[in-house]
Amino acid sequence: MARDTFYTAVDIGTDKVTSIMARVGTEGELKVLGTGVVTSQGMQKGRIENLDEVREAVQSSMEEAQRYVGKGASTGVYTSVTGTHLSSLNTKEIVDNPNDVGDISGKLLDRLLRGSFPDVGPGQEVLHVIPIGYHVDGMSGIRNPVGLHGSLVEVEAHVVIGDAVTLKNTVRVIEANKASVKSMVLHSLASAESTLTGDEREMGVVLVDIGGGTTDIAIYRQGQPWYSAVIPVGGSQLTRDLSVALKTPMYMTEEMKIKWGSVMPESIPADQQVVIPSFQGQPKHSLSRRVLCEPLHARMMELIKMIVLKVRQSGLREFPAAGIVLTGGGAEMTGLAELVQKTLGGQVRIAYPEGIAGLPAQLRKPAFSASVGLLLWGIKHQGETRSSLNGKNGGRSIMGNKSWRWGLGRKNSAAANR
Ligand SMILES: Nc1ncnc2c1ncn2[C@@H]1O[C@H](COP(=O)(O)OP(=O)(O)OP(=O)(O)O)[C@@H](O)[C@H]1O
Ligand SMILES: [Mg+2]
Repeated sequence: MARDTFYTAVDIGTDKVTSIMARVGTEGELKVLGTGVVTSQGMQKGRIENLDEVREAVQSSMEEAQRYVGKGASTGVYTSVTGTHLSSLNTKEIVDNPNDVGDISGKLLDRLLRGSFPDVGPGQEVLHVIPIGYHVDGMSGIRNPVGLHGSLVEVEAHVVIGDAVTLKNTVRVIEANKASVKSMVLHSLASAESTLTGDEREMGVVLVDIGGGTTDIAIYRQGQPWYSAVIPVGGSQLTRDLSVALKTPMYMTEEMKIKWGSVMPESIPADQQVVIPSFQGQPKHSLSRRVLCEPLHARMMELIKMIVLKVRQSGLREFPAAGIVLTGGGAEMTGLAELVQKTLGGQVRIAYPEGIAGLPAQLRKPAFSASVGLLLWGIKHQGETRSSLNGKNGGRSIMGNKSWRWGLGRKNSAAANR
C-alpha cells in the first residue's frame, strides 16, 4: 500500500486548538509545513460544549496551518479526544486454532481481535482496541504470534470506549472544515507517542498529560498501553483557585501564575514579595510570593492524590520502574517535578515532544506533546480505517491496530477502568 505523503494533526484542547501539517520527506522523515495555534473556545474539560465556537476555532487553526501549503494537500486529519466520557478496560479473548497445531495465521488473529470487542451500550462507541500481548498454549508475553505453532491462542487487549455523540461531535467540527477524520486518538496515547522512550514503555511507566481542563493518564507495560483514564482537573483549575484567592480576573491571574507561580512554596525565599496589580478598586499591593503559591500547591497536591488513586484503580500496587513522565502545558508549572518526586518518590521527568527532527521552536513545549504525537501516530498507523462514527458498519470502530477492521461485539472483559 502506498504511504501517505501529507499528515495533518488537529488537537482540540480546552485551552488551545493546534493544527500541524507535515509532509513525509524523501528519507521517510516528517517535515512540518505549517502550524496554527489558536485560543480554544467552546470546550469544557476536554468536551465540546459549543459546536459553533469550536468549529470556528478549528477553522482558524487549520487555515493558519495550511496557509503556506495550499488547501487539498491534506488527505485526512488525525485528531485527539479526551474527557470523562471515556473509559477503558482490558479484555481477554481465546480462539482454537482450527488447524490444531498448525501455524497461527493473520486471519486467525483477525478473528481473535474481532472477538475482543466488548458489548457496548447504544450510546457508546469503541475508540481503540489495542493488543497488549498474546498467549499461545499457555506461553505468555508473545508480541506477534503469526507463524508460530499452537492450538490455543489468547489475546489481551486494551479497549477504550467513549460516548458516541461526543465523539461524533469531534468528527462534525473537523468535517465542517471540509476535512475528513482519519483517526481519533485518545489524548494520552497521542502524547505518549512523542514523549515516552521505548525503554520506559518496556519497563512500565505512568504518563500524565496535565492540560488546561483535564489530566490524561496512560500506563504502559511491556511496551503497550495497559491502562488509561481522564481526570477532569487541569491547569485552569490552578488559575481559578488563585483567582479566587487574589480576587483578580482569570486573564490577569493566568499571567501571574506563569510568572510567579510555583507548586513548591517552601523553595521560595521567605522574604520574596510580588506586586499584585490594581483591579476594580482594589489598589496595587505587595504580597509574599510564598503566600501567592499556597493555593497552587494545595490544588496540585489534590491532583497528585487523584493520579495516585487512578494508578491504584489500574491494579498496580506501586509505580512502575520507569516512574512517572509529566507533560502537557500544566507540566511546565514551576516546582512540579520536585513536588511529585518528593511526594511519590521514584523516577520523575518532564517530557517535551520528540520524534520529529527540525520541529519548529514554537512546538517544542510540553503543551504540544499530543499534537506532535498525533502526527507520529498517523505515520505508525496509517492505512487503518476510522469506522463507524458516520453510522456505518454496525456502530463500532477499530483504531490502533493494523490487522483488523470491524468488530463483532463479543466480550470477555478482565478489568474495567473508570
Ligand atoms: N509555564 C507555565 N507554567 C504553568 N502553567 C502553564 C505554563 N504554560 C502553560 N501552563 C498551563 O497549561 C495549561 C494548558 O495546557 P495545554 O495547552 O496542554 O492544554 P490543552 O491541551 O489546551 O487542554 P486539555 O488537554 O486539557 O484539553 C493551562 O492551564 C496553562 O496555565
Ligand atoms: Mg491537551
